[in-house]
Order: sequence, then structure tokens, then C-alpha cells
Amino acid sequence: MGSLYRSQHELVAVFKAGTATHVNNVELGRHGRYRTNVWSYPGVNSFGKGRMSDLGAHPTVKPVAMVADAMMDCSRTGDLVLDPFSGSGTIFLAAERAGRRSAGIEIDPHYVDVAIRRFEQETGLTATLEATGQTFYAITTERGEEAPS
Ligand SMILES: C[S@@+](CC[C@H](N)C(=O)[O-])C[C@H]1O[C@@H](n2cnc3c(N)ncnc32)[C@H](O)[C@@H]1O
Repeated sequence: MGSLYRSQHELVAVFKAGTATHVNNVELGRHGRYRTNVWSYPGVNSFGKGRMSDLGAHPTVKPVAMVADAMMDCSRTGDLVLDPFSGSGTIFLAAERAGRRSAGIEIDPHYVDVAIRRFEQETGLTATLEATGQTFYAITTERGEEAPS
């Protein structure tokens, strides 16, 4: 931001926990996944469908397909993936697409609501509060908060 040239890339670090070997679902294409160390995906700065609503929801929304591909590269079906800065909740949509379970941490309650609404709209699933079983819609109505659009 603010530099002479717009950046065309961000770096992604791939780590493993513990002493087990890396999960490598690519292995030079052996499993039918051709992947390189340059990933190109339409971002919200390109002119795609839903661009303005994505940007309006959160200033740094990531492409769902990119995050889903990263999960498929180095985790297994049913694994639990975590985004400790989950923002508008790309992790949850990507995990649905990739067949993973997901968890997120987000400090701003507004973005937690954004992520839940985005998830419900894009998956057709209903979010519930684990402690009471109430739906997100029921809770926002009860609290007199903005109803989901
Ligand atoms: C770059 S955005 C996240 C983008 C998101 N990971 C995605 O893929 O679309 C960073 C988010 O981290 C949240 N955040 C900042 N500090 C935090 C903290 N200490 N704990 C949890 N969330 C935090 C911000 O509110 C913001 O929504």
C-alpha cells in the first residue's frame, strides 16, 4: 500500500507441527494435482462477480479457491484447519469446499457476524450457537441486532 508499484504477490509459509513428515498431496503431480510455487487467482481487486460485496464485507478478503487449494495440498480430508485471524471467514467456505473441518478466531465481533452471514449465504447451511442450539438468525432477532440480509 502506498508504494510506487502495486504488489503482485504475497508469501505463503508452509509449516508442519511436531516430528511427523509433511503432508504432501502434490508430489510432483503424482496424485493428479499440478501445483507450482506461483499461485494465480482472481482476487477482489479484479472485476469478478461479487467483488464489491466482498470488499464491502472486509477489506482483505482472500479468494476461497486459493485457500481451498492450499488445504488440499497439505492436509487430509476431515482434518481440522485453523485461521487465528479469520476476518470475513474465507477459511470456513474453503474448508467446506475441500472437505475439511475448520475453526476460526476473530477479535472483531462485527467480522464474526460477517463471516457467519457469508457462510450461511454461500453454503445454504444454518449456523447455531453450540451452547444453546439457537440459530444465528434467532439470536440476532432476540438481541435486536441487524437481521441477516
Ligand atoms: C487480514 S484480516 C484476515 C483475513 C482472513 N484471514 C481471510 O482469509 O480473508 C486480519 C483479521 O485479523 C483480525 N485480528 C486482528 N488482531 C486479532 C487478534 N489479536 N485476535 C484475533 N483476530 C485478530 C482483524 O480484525 C482482521 O479481521
